[in-house]
Amino acid sequence: MTDKTNPAYAALLARKSGNARALAQPAPDRATLDAIILAAARAPDHGRLVPFRFLEIAEAARGRLADLLEASSRALTPDLPPPEIERAREKATQGPLILAVIARIDADHPKITASDQWLAVGCALENLLLATQSFGFAAAVRSGRFLETPPMREGFALGAQERLVSLVAIGTPTDWPPEKPKPALERVFSIWNG
Ligand SMILES: Cc1cc2nc3c(=O)[nH]c(=O)nc-3n(C[C@H](O)[C@H](O)[C@H](O)COP(=O)(O)O)c2cc1C
Repeated sequence: MTDKTNPAYAALLARKSGNARALAQPAPDRATLDAIILAAARAPDHGRLVPFRFLEIAEAARGRLADLLEASSRALTPDLPPPEIERAREKATQGPLILAVIARIDADHPKITASDQWLAVGCALENLLLATQSFGFAAAVRSGRFLETPPMREGFALGAQERLVSLVAIGTPTDWPPEKPKPALERVFSIWNG
């Protein structure tokens, strides 16, 4: 069953990014958000190190997040023009719900490689996105160098092994971006003959 008669497979194929500017109320309620996070935490995770955690940005903390986003953009580009500053700050307002994804990578772990830990973080993010869409919501992942600047690291009180991986805006889609092209099978799959 590789068609829509297999709902789980159909849901995988239907996953797509939302448009952060087109996310309206309602956001997932408490129980739905808990269910989304629990799905994320079901990610395959070699060594069960749980190298991920998620923060919900409190409504009252959006202004503080905007300030951190501005400070991080200025840290990267000191002469940032005002429209760019506004674009940086906007990430704190788009979406009725914003989650921060934090990875904790133990690069010196004796057994579990850093790449295994990163893959677990990626799997958790994918589970989060799939679960979000399964409840009828859309998610837009935002990332970039701005997440790695001192203002963001300090603002989120990250531990030494922690990295702020992305901000995920979640809400009810009022519009979807056009479907993105996907790689053909032969681009991503072949047979190794030794
Ligand atoms: C770790 C990660 C970071 C991403 N960061 C951004 C981002 O900063 N801005 C953005 O527009 N999309 C971002 N995306 C979404 C991708 O651009 C998107 O998944 C890709 O274009 C394919 O589109 P689709 O999700 O609709 O299949 C990110 C996705 C991942 C997994």
